[in-house]
Amino acid sequence: MADSEAIVRLARSDDEAAILALINRVQPHAPWTQAHYDWQFKHGPAGAPILRVIDCEGLIAGFLAVSRRHVWVDGKIYDGFLMQDGMTDPTFRGRGFFNMLATALRDGLVGTDLVGLMFPNKHSENSFRRTGWTELMKVPLRVAHAQGLTKDLSLLQPVPAFNSDVLAIWKDAGFSVGVLRSPEYLNWRYGIPGATYYRFMIDGDAGFAVLKVYDRGGSRVVNLCDFVVRKGERGRIAEFLDEVHAFAQQHGAAEVQALVDARNPYAAAFEAKGFALDLSQDRFIFTDGPADVLPRLSSASAWHISQADNDVY
Ligand SMILES: CC(C)(COP(=O)(O)OP(=O)(O)OC[C@H]1O[C@@H](n2cnc3c(N)ncnc32)[C@H](O)[C@@H]1OP(=O)(O)O)[C@@H](O)C(=O)NCCC(=O)NCCS
Repeated sequence: MADSEAIVRLARSDDEAAILALINRVQPHAPWTQAHYDWQFKHGPAGAPILRVIDCEGLIAGFLAVSRRHVWVDGKIYDGFLMQDGMTDPTFRGRGFFNMLATALRDGLVGTDLVGLMFPNKHSENSFRRTGWTELMKVPLRVAHAQGLTKDLSLLQPVPAFNSDVLAIWKDAGFSVGVLRSPEYLNWRYGIPGATYYRFMIDGDAGFAVLKVYDRGGSRVVNLCDFVVRKGERGRIAEFLDEVHAFAQQHGAAEVQALVDARNPYAAAFEAKGFALDLSQDRFIFTDGPADVLPRLSSASAWHISQADNDVY
């Protein structure tokens, strides 16, 4: 049962320092700078985020942020969002505060045309299940062990930033539902202050890819954050993935990870190149949206999901 003195309200601009301090108390292992906060909550190309806080007698005891996205559903573009940062101050946990935030998020969604997507963790997923979100699929994590492939990259062609070609590729990729890959979105998404992403066009304008190198303890992992090809180029995916393996070799990575659901048309090519589904992975992706498109949104085979859609990568 939540405390009667605690209320959920939209964040005000004068809450910013308290929110940033809360984020850094809750996740000291992954601290945010002011530049990161500004990038995340002020510069997104799809519009201003919706930030809610738990105000407990003047103290910011909890926080839930949704960041705007444009979502492509059968050729129509919907305003949407990704739920991404939710937390309760350690001294206020177990009092129902996060459930209050989740309920307010849901109440704010009902009756709107907004489309939502989220990758909650195990601690928070029940709050979203209870408030009526639809389970879309298990997070389709695939892991490929390094294949030791040594070759120069010729099909993956580095670019400093994306241009309108990526949107043309997305529209020609044959996916029914997904976060719209516009140049504005991708250039912002991969502009996290202090993070390095490797952006590639694939063989001219056959597709595009974004890779990130991540040090995990003593080993190195390559994350395939984005990988989209024109529908007519799907037969070449294995060839393109060889270059992803070669990139991993060049960067001394032991593993390459990607999110590719078994129902995604890319799945067979990923399987063939050693990307096996991690069956121990037990987290879920949830979605929600207006009643007329919810059947499409709830169809796992309609979606294209990649690591780009989860803010942790
Ligand atoms: C997860 C978290 C937000 C829960 O906040 P909270 O205010 O204590 O949560 P509530 O009291 O509203 O309880 C919500 C649910 O979380 C569960 N929960 C809370 N803390 C938990 C924990 N440490 N381990 C497991 N479950 C936990 C509660 O049992 C409750 O589950 P139920 O809905 O199935 O009954 C909080 O522990 C936190 O900030 N963790 C670190 C950041 C994080 O994991 N954020 C979620 C990312 S989406």
